[in-house]
Amino acid sequence: MSIDRLCAYYGFSKMPFRKDLAPSALFRSTAHAEAVARLTWCIGEGGLAVVTGEVGSGKTVALRATAAGLEPSRHQVVYCPNPVIGGRGILAAIVTALGGVPRFHRSALVPQAAEALGAAEAERGRRVVVAIDEAHLLADDQLEDVRMLTSAELDSKSPAVLVLIGQPVLRRRLAQTTMAALDQRVSLRVQLEGMDPQETKGYLRHHLELCGRSDPLFSDDAIDVVHRASRGLPRALNNLAVQGLVAAFMKDQAIVDERAAKTAVVEVAGE
Ligand SMILES: Nc1ncnc2c1ncn2[C@@H]1O[C@H](COP(=O)(O)OP(=O)(O)O)[C@@H](O)[C@H]1O
Ligand SMILES: [Mg+2]
Repeated sequence: MSIDRLCAYYGFSKMPFRKDLAPSALFRSTAHAEAVARLTWCIGEGGLAVVTGEVGSGKTVALRATAAGLEPSRHQVVYCPNPVIGGRGILAAIVTALGGVPRFHRSALVPQAAEALGAAEAERGRRVVVAIDEAHLLADDQLEDVRMLTSAELDSKSPAVLVLIGQPVLRRRLAQTTMAALDQRVSLRVQLEGMDPQETKGYLRHHLELCGRSDPLFSDDAIDVVHRASRGLPRALNNLAVQGLVAAFMKDQAIVDERAAKTAVVEVAGE
């Protein structure tokens, strides 16, 4: 089975449900739009934001969309894709991203990072947004670095913005008593939920429209099946939708029906 043949069969201009969507092409689900609006507000105010959601709920996409909407001359986004940033850690990554050479000792890194953030705002008029993705994987001492940075930073006059993005366990970690000092700094909490059935339908239609098919390709039964299996989470929906298209294509069916959707569920989840 080749992607070219599948695209030709359905008349797609390109393969749908790909993950490299431009920010302008994203589907504005309630959860997505709200996350972007609230993050944008938090970036204006300064502070510490915590964005949580299950795997594939659209956290990274929401951050990307938020960053794309910021005035570029007035913001600088430092994106740390993974907390396992290397021996020197988050603070060194921030200093490096802001053009400095990280000091060797950890104790010296906290004021250096805070200064670098302050200088970006004071000298260049740019607010720095430090976004740490997969933050549920941060070790305790890395979270402690984040805490020291936020307190050093909040005591100075220039509000940088820190965004921690992670799976729901991140919330629970911050709620632990040992993390109380950091948890109290949190000024915004966003939890990305799955889409409801109506939004799932719109999501599928949106992705298909981007590839040139504006008529319904999935039967309502099929949408039901993929919605329940994905719980309305975008990444799972993408995988199920692609497998549904493949299953229908193999059977030479113009529409993804309930049976093709069920085949997709088996393919994706092994259920
Ligand atoms: N608003 C959206 N519009 C279109 N596609 C989306 C949207 N949100 C998420 N997706 C899709 O779902 C996938 C998973 O989103 P992602 O942000 O990577 O999840 P997470 O970071 O929560 O694991 C993305 O690759 C993208 O294809
Ligand atoms: Mg992600």
